[in-house]
Amino acid sequence: MVTDDIVIRQATTADQAVVVALVRDAFGTGGHDPAEEVEIVVSTWASDRRLDELELVAEVDGVVVGHVLCALGDLEGTALPSVAPLAVAPTAQGRGIGTALVTEVVRRAETAGYPALVLLGSDRYYRRFGFEPAGTVGVVYAPVGPASPYFQIRRLAGFGPSLRGEFAYHWELGR
Ligand SMILES: CC(C)(COP(=O)(O)OP(=O)(O)OC[C@H]1O[C@@H](n2cnc3c(N)ncnc32)[C@H](O)[C@@H]1OP(=O)(O)O)[C@@H](O)C(=O)NCCC(=O)NCCS
Repeated sequence: MVTDDIVIRQATTADQAVVVALVRDAFGTGGHDPAEEVEIVVSTWASDRRLDELELVAEVDGVVVGHVLCALGDLEGTALPSVAPLAVAPTAQGRGIGTALVTEVVRRAETAGYPALVLLGSDRYYRRFGFEPAGTVGVVYAPVGPASPYFQIRRLAGFGPSLRGEFAYHWELGR
């Protein structure tokens, strides 16, 4: 449920220190080491495959409490955005902030003309935004295999059946 005034805006370099702390906090709960998620964020910022228009922060009362980042991966020669990671500050979770960020990323990706978005995450969480297991439409992330419910795709208007095969994240492309 949305109980606050949530402002969603494109992230800037001025947000980066706050975003790193936020990602560390969001993924550092329950004994999990958040180093991998922090590394994805920092390496994406350094990559020419980052998508500035699909990096968003959520603010409540002027404080950044949520962040989502996308970058261009590869699907058999087609550049396709992946979402990684999505983070909401532990103290701000359960108030619709993740929902607002994912909804806006999907809307902006559609407007930008991308045919789909992919991600690895909870099927229970992402299916409310129209994500579905990617293997069911022939899009596969080899490390988890075609039957994984966690590698998901959100088909957009430009999606077509020729869009299938093996996906690689930008950090796996070696450039
Ligand atoms: C997952 C996360 C981004 C959700 O953000 P949020 O602002 O708390 O989510 P919202 O308020 O928009 O939505 C809350 C709903 O998501 C569900 N939810 C939250 N985290 C979830 C998870 N990891 N898996 C499945 N469902 C989840 C809640 O149960 C709630 O369900 P309901 O609407 O049926 O009551 C946030 O909890 C987070 O940053 N978690 C730690 C980092 C993480 O795991 N990120 C990757 C997401 S797969």
